[in-house]
Amino acid sequence: MLKKSHLFAFNAWVKGLVLFCRPHRFLGFTERLNLFFSNTVGLSRWISLQAKSPFNDFYTPGRDGKKREQLYKQVILDQHLEGQPIDYLEFGVASGGSFFWWLQENNHPDSRFYGFDTFEGLPEDWGLGFRKGDMSSGMPELNDQRAVFIKGLFQDSLPPFLREYKNPGRKKIIHLDADLFSSTLFALASLSPFLKPGDILLFDEFNVPNHEYFAFKIFSESFYIRTRLLGAVNNYHQVALRIEHNPASPV
Ligand SMILES: C[S@@+](CC[C@H](N)C(=O)[O-])C[C@H]1O[C@@H](n2cnc3c(N)ncnc32)[C@H](O)[C@@H]1O
Repeated sequence: MLKKSHLFAFNAWVKGLVLFCRPHRFLGFTERLNLFFSNTVGLSRWISLQAKSPFNDFYTPGRDGKKREQLYKQVILDQHLEGQPIDYLEFGVASGGSFFWWLQENNHPDSRFYGFDTFEGLPEDWGLGFRKGDMSSGMPELNDQRAVFIKGLFQDSLPPFLREYKNPGRKKIIHLDADLFSSTLFALASLSPFLKPGDILLFDEFNVPNHEYFAFKIFSESFYIRTRLLGAVNNYHQVALRIEHNPASPV
């Protein structure tokens, strides 16, 4: 009978040998592609595990930009946010398409709107078509006392912001629209101690396997966060999730 100790020794020997052969030298070109396939399978499984949401256009051919606002409306309706004070935090503002939509939609005087961006474009290349610096927009003008833009890399600007951040019981809507895996994961992980059941996560490019989806997967699995799907449009390109459970919740 093979003992456990023999198995461990064999495992260690194989692992050492594989690393000694420097597989990246001849298989390195497959690394990104392997991750893409693995994340595509993971995303497909994640989709199949979600409870049926009445607001979901999957499967639909093509993509319609107007649907994301319909999704926002649905979230407001479903979560009774109409006329309620909210904290809206957006990661990836650019020229403010979604930021100004929320600012106009919610006119409660106690609501607060925080928009984070370099305003100098993406800090890294993204996907096939976008390079570092693309989407540079300059900071849009703001004429609402309730709103503020926080310029800089999230990695620089978010820690000091969160040290001062006070939230007197308002529901948080966290909009992740930075496209990149690193940016999305950093924002989610930094916010994790602040997320309460009932808070909402919006993703703008959720079905990109190696970026927003992968960041959400790593985040939710590592922080034991449970969410519920509120709605999805454009084949899960835009997704709204409600936080159901966070072990680190500040309740
Ligand atoms: C797709 S655009 C945002 C679009 C916007 N929400 C809209 O509705 O028009 C993505 C933005 O994320 C910003 N971004 C990505 N990673 C960032 C990071 N780590 N720190 C700051 N800004 C970042 C980029 O500068 C870019 O402006």
